[in-house]
Amino acid sequence: MATSSSIFLLYFLLPFFSTATTLYRSHLITHQEPSTPTTFFEVTKPIKLPRTKSCSQLILEHDFGYTYGKTPILANYTPPLNCPKFSKIVLEWTATCKGRQFDRIFGVWVSGVEILRSCTAEPTKNGIFWTVKKDVTRYSSLFIKNQTFAVYLGNVVDSTYTGVYHVKLLVHFYNEVKNFDFGADLIVPISRNVDLNDGLWFEIENSTDVKSKDFKIPRNVYRAVLEVYVSFHENDEFWYANPVNEYVSLNNLSVPGNGAFREVVVSLDEMVVGVVWPFTVIYTGGANPLFWRPISGIGSFDLPSYDIEITPLLGKILDGSSHKISFRVTDALNVWYVDANLHLWLDGESMKTEGKLLEYSCSTLSFSLLTNFTGFDGSFITNASRSITMTGMVKSSYGTITTKSSQSLSYSNYMVMGNKGNLQIVDQIIEFNDTVYAMMPSSSVYSLESFKKYLFNWYSDNIDQGNQSYVSVTNVTLGLEDKRVKSSEYGSSVSSVKNLQNARGYMIVKGHLVVQGLGSTQQVYKYNDDSCCYSRNISSSDYLILHDKVIDSCNQRTWSHWPLKIGKKRSLPG
Ligand SMILES: *[C@@H]1O[C@H](CO)[C@@H](O)[C@H](O)[C@H]1NC(C)=O
Ligand SMILES: *[C@@H]1O[C@H](CO)[C@@H](O)[C@H](O)[C@H]1NC(C)=O
Ligand SMILES: *[C@@H]1O[C@H](CO)[C@@H](O)[C@H](O)[C@H]1NC(C)=O
Ligand SMILES: *[C@@H]1O[C@H](CO)[C@@H](O)[C@H](O)[C@H]1NC(C)=O
Ligand SMILES: *[C@@H]1O[C@H](CO)[C@@H](O)[C@H](O)[C@H]1NC(C)=O
Ligand SMILES: *[C@@H]1O[C@H](CO)[C@@H](O)[C@H](O)[C@H]1NC(C)=O
Ligand SMILES: *[C@@H]1O[C@H](CO)[C@@H](O)[C@H](O)[C@H]1NC(C)=O
Ligand SMILES: *[C@@H]1O[C@H](CO)[C@@H](O)[C@H](O)[C@H]1NC(C)=O
Ligand SMILES: *[C@@H]1O[C@H](CO)[C@@H](O)[C@H](O)[C@H]1NC(C)=O
Repeated sequence: MATSSSIFLLYFLLPFFSTATTLYRSHLITHQEPSTPTTFFEVTKPIKLPRTKSCSQLILEHDFGYTYGKTPILANYTPPLNCPKFSKIVLEWTATCKGRQFDRIFGVWVSGVEILRSCTAEPTKNGIFWTVKKDVTRYSSLFIKNQTFAVYLGNVVDSTYTGVYHVKLLVHFYNEVKNFDFGADLIVPISRNVDLNDGLWFEIENSTDVKSKDFKIPRNVYRAVLEVYVSFHENDEFWYANPVNEYVSLNNLSVPGNGAFREVVVSLDEMVVGVVWPFTVIYTGGANPLFWRPISGIGSFDLPSYDIEITPLLGKILDGSSHKISFRVTDALNVWYVDANLHLWLDGESMKTEGKLLEYSCSTLSFSLLTNFTGFDGSFITNASRSITMTGMVKSSYGTITTKSSQSLSYSNYMVMGNKGNLQIVDQIIEFNDTVYAMMPSSSVYSLESFKKYLFNWYSDNIDQGNQSYVSVTNVTLGLEDKRVKSSEYGSSVSSVKNLQNARGYMIVKGHLVVQGLGSTQQVYKYNDDSCCYSRNISSSDYLILHDKVIDSCNQRTWSHWPLKIGKKRSLPG
């Protein structure tokens, strides 16, 4: 589950009282859950779709009651007979729930390949509804064959936690797009096998815990991308707000203390191939659960995955033998869920390609921690940076391609603790740049650059009421920027997402229960590319949408020159 026992983890056991005095707002609020079912949603750009849908398939329908510690729900998939041609695939998760329930993490896998990591919305007594739609076209090669779907959502139902998640999982197939991006020819799962009582993710419990998987690839691969899924839970659900316990004795607040920096390190046969400094997703019960009703936190319904271009390393794994991918998390506390998908592009005209690593450099982590503490109060300044660069060539029937892939990351976290440990301010910025340059046999260069910035700002003050209850005031700013520049001999294109949420509110907490509270959230989402822009400016307070403005000029379709595709023109699958 997404929640655990830290001080920030709370959920609503009692209905709201209507007699609240607000701490900082002048208008009157009635603390009632909505009397009718509510739709929750995450703000994001709608998926650009062709005009016609070829068909839809219901993959599974299941009521997730007491599913914690049980085998994932499995469903057989066969390619749709009634729509032999498709060029876009959309996964749709729809769910309803009524009663009282924690936020639960869940995953959807297709024969071990993870295609969605998500968090459930927390229900109300009159019920909620939500839908997650994800473009899964990059996983097309899976959908043209028989597969087994697996969904793990570890829910617990008893007399207190009454919410059962009623779920439908569908796949929609669309045709018509001409120059579509089918994705890799083959996707190798780097996840756990399904015969267990848990998700297929690996669980990483501490800083020395390493989880790995052996795999083999065909001998005619010419491109490889490792897609990594991560989520953080229990003592590390708010890793970015964890102080360092050796400097500050916060034991009676039971705040986990390994510091606020985390790095997911991915290795191939003991060689570090890339790292993930993850976006600070806040699950639907995190900070103040009222922030996320009905507007969910950035990434909470569709957690980001992180691509690491490992084409330069192909020379090391094209030998037909077994190799190992492993994961660890620097300074991890229990628990991180990590797995990956290895996307492979195959040479259609040759049984064998050859590769060679030409250059590899992985800087050691540059890390600094400054502290200034007196008793419970003080500050931490934690900074880190790292860069990894590798260059390699691959010789295939299409000629020799030299690929240079780099990651460059920086991290800065300023944390203040005050009021004897009850006040916490966190200001964190991560910059996460990835670049890939591919020199083609014709000497033209394809490039893909991604510049990401993750902002997190948190203010939280707990004021003891002296009767086992306290008032908690929390403000959170959550921001994600991602600019992508693709270029090739045909030109270049730029797309960018800027997504910013500001949430403000308070709660009165007794034990671990919120007995009263208010949450308001404001969000501005902007997407731009060469042909269109989409923006949404929305705000909500206490379940109500206060304003919502959408500007959408994204009706036209655009063609992309990336990912690098060579060789024969691919016809539509099916
Ligand atoms: C795919 O599954 C269907 C339905 O179970 C079965 O009839 C068919 O033989 C399978 N195809 C392959 C290639 O295994
Ligand atoms: C770290 O976690 C692993 C896996 O649960 C466990 O075997 C190991 O003892 C733990 N190490 C420490 C230092 O707690
Ligand atoms: C923590 O516990 C100690 C001893 O039990 C107590 O003196 C102190 O006031 C507590 N601190 C806080 C912040 O509650
Ligand atoms: C150290 O903490 C004190 C009191 O909180 C503050 O006045 C001072 O500016 C801090 N110094 C640094 C270097 O952050
Ligand atoms: C940490 O990084 C921040 C932001 O880049 C910078 O302002 C600050 O000077 C750095 N502090 C240290 C001690 O390196
Ligand atoms: C990421 O790229 C941007 C834009 O080029 C640059 O300003 C920033 O310094 C880069 N950050 C890192 C950590 O490389
Ligand atoms: C706790 O005390 C505060 C004032 O001291 C009061 O307003 C509040 O209603 C009390 N809360 C509970 C849950 O008893
Ligand atoms: C928290 O948000 C409230 C409401 O917008 C604001 O009045 C207050 O100043 C904020 N506090 C901090 C420390 O940002
Ligand atoms: C979003 O809308 C609010 C309310 O209309 C407005 O005050 C704010 O300036 C808008 N923000 C942006 C970035 O457009």
